[in-house]
Amino acid sequence: MPGICVIGAQWGDEGKGKLVDIIGESADCIVRYQGGNNAGHTIVVQGKKYTFHALPAGVLRGKRSLIASEVVLDPRQLYSEMKKFEGELNLGIDPRTSIIMPWHNDLDNVGEESRKKTTGAAIGTTARGIGPCYEDDKNRSGLRFYELVGNPQSLENRIREVHDVKRKVIEQVYGTQISYDINKTVDDYISLGSYLKKYLADVSQEVSKALKDGKNVVFEGAQGTLLDIKFGNYPKVTSSHPMTGAVFDSVGIAPMKMRAIGIIKAYVTKVGSGPVVTCLDNGLWPVDESKSTPEGNYIRNKGQEKGTTTGRPRRVGWMDAVVLKYTHRLNGFSELALMKLDCLSGLDKVRMAVAYENNGMIFDDYPSWDTDFLNDCKPIYEEFDGFGDISQARTYKQLPKSARNYVNRIEELIGTPVTVISVGPGREETIFRKFKKF
Ligand code: GDP
Ligand code: IMO
Ligand code: MG
Repeated sequence: MPGICVIGAQWGDEGKGKLVDIIGESADCIVRYQGGNNAGHTIVVQGKKYTFHALPAGVLRGKRSLIASEVVLDPRQLYSEMKKFEGELNLGIDPRTSIIMPWHNDLDNVGEESRKKTTGAAIGTTARGIGPCYEDDKNRSGLRFYELVGNPQSLENRIREVHDVKRKVIEQVYGTQISYDINKTVDDYISLGSYLKKYLADVSQEVSKALKDGKNVVFEGAQGTLLDIKFGNYPKVTSSHPMTGAVFDSVGIAPMKMRAIGIIKAYVTKVGSGPVVTCLDNGLWPVDESKSTPEGNYIRNKGQEKGTTTGRPRRVGWMDAVVLKYTHRLNGFSELALMKLDCLSGLDKVRMAVAYENNGMIFDDYPSWDTDFLNDCKPIYEEFDGFGDISQARTYKQLPKSARNYVNRIEELIGTPVTVISVGPGREETIFRKFKKF
């Protein structure tokens, strides 16, 4: 099968970037299919760290890298990543892609302020304008890549026209000031458009042909399934669909059977508010490390769990098989890649939730829509012996028995093989178990 999707099975930051890079080696093309520069995908090669927000992580392998129509694209961020990038860029951007404008950042910020005042809790967005840009796209008033790279006079007219409306909303509805200068915005976006023009590509057509010709295509997911706009913990979610099924609509290809690799971290993390039943930080967001559990702080430090995009400490919790069963049901994972197992080493005991208890009822399905109910759930844990340093292990047999027990139990509970075990950020710090790149 020529297509492989890389899907976050938790709340994002599972290690998708590393996996995309690994299978990217034998790929012909890599396609980012949703989200925007709210994502932060980090890849470490020979000790050097590369972080991608708007560029597909596939560029690191020098492969054809595509941005599909359901991505929301900030051309300012894209440009700065392109300038920093040292290698050859073989990039294509779909003309239907919606463009993030400075008012989207402002609206993201005022929206968060307003949520704090009205509901007492913000989502904790990345402030990258993601929600407001998707809002305009679905409202059919967004600016698309095709317009960005089109006639400069028409672009200027469109920018000024939309700005007039957005400025009124920001000033008159939210009672605050816009943060950008409109004349500079017009100039910047015209320059960006003229720079990016050569990258226009009909991604739908290109990927359809690539698949038909038997080429190897990686679909690079951003975020994680529990941040899905419908199937995540709404409203504490992002505004797109990070799931397998969304690949077809987003890229514009006919549905087909594809391998879907579920990327799972050996524990869970969440940036932003929302229920995390196995949370080790007393549910607090923003995280207050002085009120967290020792295990929570230990794992956060060991895993360096600070946001790649915003630098905020991530909430940390034990692995949650209830969540994984749910995200497996939604995505149909053909296999799992277990990342950051090394970050659990040094703990006396490691835990995994296998069911929840709520008001005397025990169950193992996941009502993603019911935040209050999830906040009241208590995890039922299985406990495993801890393990020491595993960062040098390169085969499954080299892992201590207690670590293997943990992996086996995940496979048993989810009913899906764990074909990749990652024990460090580097490419080589990886154990493969009957894993086929393509
Ligand atoms: P993504 O958003 O899913 O691509 O994940 P991020 O890049 O935001 O977060 C994963 C972080 O963990 C990155 O800094 C990676 O370099 C790092 N990482 C990935 N796999 C491993 C691993 O197995 N062990 C350790 N210690 N770090 C890892
Ligand atoms: P990657 O691809 C982790 C979270 C934000 C916030 C919520 C909504 O690196 O896994 P948004 O800016 O999208 O409107 O914020 O979603 N979020 C992520 N958390 N990893 C990500 O991406 C995320 N992208 C968005 O923290 O809670
Ligand atoms: Mg990330």
